[in-house]
Amino acid sequence: MAIVFKGAAAIVTGGASGIGQSIVRALAARGARVVVADIDGEGAEAEASALRAKGCEAVAKTVDVTDAGAVERLVAGVEKRWGQLDFLFNNAGVIYVGELLDMDDDAWQRCIDINLWGVINGVRAAYPRMARQGSGCIVNTGSIAGLGPAPGFTIYAATKHAVVGLSQSLRGEARKYGVQVNVLCPGFVSTPMVTNASYARMDGAAAAASMRKRGVFTEPDLVAADLMQGIERDTPVIVTPATARLAMSILRYAPFTGEIFSGKFMEAIRGFRTRK
Ligand SMILES: NC(=O)c1ccc[n+]([C@@H]2O[C@H](COP(=O)([O-])OP(=O)(O)OC[C@H]3O[C@@H](n4cnc5c(N)ncnc54)[C@H](O)[C@@H]3O)[C@@H](O)[C@H]2O)c1
Repeated sequence: MAIVFKGAAAIVTGGASGIGQSIVRALAARGARVVVADIDGEGAEAEASALRAKGCEAVAKTVDVTDAGAVERLVAGVEKRWGQLDFLFNNAGVIYVGELLDMDDDAWQRCIDINLWGVINGVRAAYPRMARQGSGCIVNTGSIAGLGPAPGFTIYAATKHAVVGLSQSLRGEARKYGVQVNVLCPGFVSTPMVTNASYARMDGAAAAASMRKRGVFTEPDLVAADLMQGIERDTPVIVTPATARLAMSILRYAPFTGEIFSGKFMEAIRGFRTRK
């Protein structure tokens, strides 16, 4: 499928912050019409109005991606407004950090609802429309935690592995109908997510500070730039930045390195565990 951003109609979920916000800006800079969709309606409106002030076509929608009906209305609304839907970025997500033994039912439910059902709801609303159109591109945000082990992020990793599997499999089905499917798998990115993470029985502030100090973080604008290139090249799994690509290549050819790294990471996480 020939990728044309100029004049395209795009939806970005989780578009008010972090990676989603950078995707919104990258699309707008390439001349796309963008819906900034987020549960944070104020943040979405702030982003959309800032883009409109620069002459871009952008609208904000307050949407909870766990609400299938709301996602359906979001997608139908874009089709009605702009006559088509060219891009859907299923990007909204949350993370739960800590020992699995400390996670309650709510952590499982909420993480799966947002990270996996949020993507499913987007796919179920957009894919049939794009298939009928004979064109379109669905980009789901996974993570490198969806490509290998991520102890300390076990529930999150389960959702991201599912997102990668869904994306790679749908890709094989959708090609016949002219629909492109890609999955974005970033390493650590400097966004509010680390601060906003749900830390189970942990000193979250100290853990976040330590992760920021020790982790190799990339900027969300660089992720969005790599993503745009990956979409144009139709790279099935877009791993970014280069350090994450290197780590994933090493993991593929020497899986024991994942055990060593993740063991050390888990010990660091346990260092911030609190007693009740
Ligand atoms: N930051 C990282 O290190 C990193 C690494 C790999 C993958 N990711 C993934 O990138 C995506 C974006 O994360 P980010 O780092 O930009 O985080 P972020 O917290 O900056 O942004 C997430 C956005 O999603 C929105 N959101 C949360 N729940 C929602 C819901 N139910 N409905 C609609 N919107 C909702 C939030 O309001 C927020 O604007 C997520 O899927 C995340 O898992 C992040």
